[in-house]
Amino acid sequence: MMKSEEVMRILENAIRIGKGVIRYGSVASYIPELAKADKNKLGICLYTIDGNQFETGNTEDRFTIQSISKVMALCLALETFGAEFVFEHVGVEPSGEAFNSLVELDNRSNRPFNPMINSGAITVASLLVNHYSIEDMQKYMQDVCEDPEIAVDEAVFQSEMATCARNKAIAYLLKSKEIIDTDVEDSVTFYTKMCSMSVNARDLAMFGLLLANDGVQLSTGKRLISSQTVRMVQTIMLTCGMYDGSGEFALRTGIPTKSGVGGGLLSVSKKKMGIGIYGPSLDKKGNCIAGCELLGYISEALHLHIFDTREWKVEE
Ligand code: DON
Repeated sequence: MMKSEEVMRILENAIRIGKGVIRYGSVASYIPELAKADKNKLGICLYTIDGNQFETGNTEDRFTIQSISKVMALCLALETFGAEFVFEHVGVEPSGEAFNSLVELDNRSNRPFNPMINSGAITVASLLVNHYSIEDMQKYMQDVCEDPEIAVDEAVFQSEMATCARNKAIAYLLKSKEIIDTDVEDSVTFYTKMCSMSVNARDLAMFGLLLANDGVQLSTGKRLISSQTVRMVQTIMLTCGMYDGSGEFALRTGIPTKSGVGGGLLSVSKKKMGIGIYGPSLDKKGNCIAGCELLGYISEALHLHIFDTREWKVEE
């Protein structure tokens, strides 16, 4: 058993540890609007399955969700089309390449390696765009994060659309291989808009809690996502969520996590908690540098590694 004050003390330590490495990273600049972020921001929020909330730092600051939206898009696609159909279009193997690589897709495979890299997520977006409007996607994100304020950040959206030649190249390559059959421009626009939704660390923690609770919303008892989908999505987060840093991150923290170049991290600790982190200073692989560092510490301090058998419960 662990007291609430002890958890808060661990979070304060975590922020200190994270701040210690912020200077070794930098904010994303390939999307010009993201370069305006303050690299010193850092916040963490935990929502636990027994109804507690712990947070410290910049947990109310809004930032664009970016690649973390790939997790929501995958959930919606699996629920809508079923796993068999979705995984005919996109694989489930870690790629060992950067998130925006198209090398392997072109040379080695007729399917994107997994739904967490851009080629895979653009493929998932091309499935969704046939059935859903971006407003539907926005509503889905609002529901799973329990935040009606989630909306497209127009400045970031426009900024990425003006500089997304590589994603368009990926999408046209996918089209040439007949992996996507919808309009390329529509698919890239849908993908870029879902990446441009603005969230905060609390939203990510709430979505993490939903996954940690097997897809059942804690506040209402309502099932929003099926058990099978939750299980598949977490497996893919663990093996592919941090791109070519996924193996090392899994070893260090053992927490299924997805990063976004806006600085967000979404983490899920089964039957324990959802964790949301915001810190726009990124490491070379595009993952929040402070968040990765502090999650290693938190995982050990709170026994969150997926293969850790020690008990964890907060005492009021
Ligand atoms: O497509 C892109 O490049 C961005 N919209 C998202 C990339 C991203 O978040 C990679 N994550 N760490």
